[in-house]
Amino acid sequence: MWTKKDLQQLIKDKMGDYLFIVVSNRQPYVHVSKKGKIECQRGAGGVITALDPVMQACNGTWVAFGSGDADRKVADKAGRLKVPTDNPAYTLRRVWLTKEEENGYYYGYSNEALWPLCHTAFERPQFRKEDWECYRKVNEKFAKAVIDEVGGKKAFVWIQDYHLCLLPKYLKEIAPNQLIVAHFWHIPWPSYETFRICPQKKELLDGLLANDLLGFHIRYHCDNFFNVVDREVECKIDRERFSIVRGGHETLVRPYPISVDFEGIDKMSASPNVAKAKNSLVEEFGLSGTKVLLGLDRIDYTKGIPERLLAIDRLLEKHPELKEKIVFLQMGEISRLHIPKYKVLNDELNALVEEINWKHSTDSWKPVILVRRHLSFEELLAFYHIGDVCVVSSLHDGMNLVAKEFISTCSDERGMLVLSSFTGASRELTDAILVNPYDREQFSEGIFRALTLPEEERAKRMKKMREVVGHDNIYRWAGMVLADLFKFEFKEQFVQNGTSF
Ligand code: G6P
Repeated sequence: MWTKKDLQQLIKDKMGDYLFIVVSNRQPYVHVSKKGKIECQRGAGGVITALDPVMQACNGTWVAFGSGDADRKVADKAGRLKVPTDNPAYTLRRVWLTKEEENGYYYGYSNEALWPLCHTAFERPQFRKEDWECYRKVNEKFAKAVIDEVGGKKAFVWIQDYHLCLLPKYLKEIAPNQLIVAHFWHIPWPSYETFRICPQKKELLDGLLANDLLGFHIRYHCDNFFNVVDREVECKIDRERFSIVRGGHETLVRPYPISVDFEGIDKMSASPNVAKAKNSLVEEFGLSGTKVLLGLDRIDYTKGIPERLLAIDRLLEKHPELKEKIVFLQMGEISRLHIPKYKVLNDELNALVEEINWKHSTDSWKPVILVRRHLSFEELLAFYHIGDVCVVSSLHDGMNLVAKEFISTCSDERGMLVLSSFTGASRELTDAILVNPYDREQFSEGIFRALTLPEEERAKRMKKMREVVGHDNIYRWAGMVLADLFKFEFKEQFVQNGTSF
């Protein structure tokens, strides 16, 4: 099993005099003002879950958008600070954006154009020229910040996600010989049929093909990318070597299924603080003596939350004997609320919860509890501990790390996972109960099955899934990407030895 130490050793042995820089839109730590005080919160979403432990292991610099209202107060003039505050392990360099830039680049082009374009959730992408202009400008701004961090040195730059498609190109234009650039795409990559509608498709591909290495979660997304490039760009594609050569520059395109810090989560979830947090959550929501179904998501239309509620509704219609015996607790982190679709979704969820509770509740019980709030990491682990069944029902998801986090906390092998087949995670977690969230009957039966699975079978399945996540953990993921990345520095040697990338 890969450990934090193995990753640290790999970096120590191979990094040489290269700096290590991660770049993403979302920052790992956000400073917000609360009741006159400054509070530090962990950023939401899969990128942070995966990369914070990696950065804590390798002491690099993370460049990201400073989105918190108190961020400037705790950073130096250049926007730098050491994080995590209680145990500083690496540098965070914040990039400041104007409101207009945030609107066009983040809300607009990233999340109203690229996000729906890449997820098959049947939400129409909006391509606005002004948003694209902001997207370009902000990618340039990120490039300047990265170059500022690099100075005259050499660096491995590891870019995250769809917000920064143009960054590789800008970086290579400014510093062609100093930088080795990799990019990990955390969401699905669409088929050619879908991608071809994008008015800026050529520019996006042009940006991405400046990378030395481009990673997706699964082989299927790599294949989609090859198909798109094949139709749009004049280049040489070698699918056996997972390589694209254009104008003399090679980009390797490979699958690396992302994961979580299994060991760290497993250990931390056994701590007294988590037990304490669990007790207070059980008390707060009146959960003792009931079986708990869990949902935990950013509130996003790709996550299939209405579909999940409708499946619970159907479950109670078909199995009224479950009344007063189960509760469905949905925790939601508010996200991207300035985008109209997200606001509508929030309203839709309120109405659905109201309706389902009205339909099935008894004098002393209601089936659904919906809570929107930010959880600390300890509370998050406590929350997973409460669950008998965790329900992940994304309509489309690159990987989904909630599923893997939940499994990492189930050391007693009591829990069960109901998982959408449209997540990347479903390819590895084949012992979960796999469902189609669009199929209400099958989905609700899947939940019923998870609730009633014999103890022995549940433990057997959970044990296998824990083995998978334990083995393919986040340190292995980072190790695989970095090992491939480090080969660039020693390319001659690798080619001479006949080792293929
Ligand atoms: C997904 C994306 C991430 C993003 C996260 C949270 O996991 O792949 O890049 O950070 O969602 O979304 P947000 O818009 O809040 O950063």
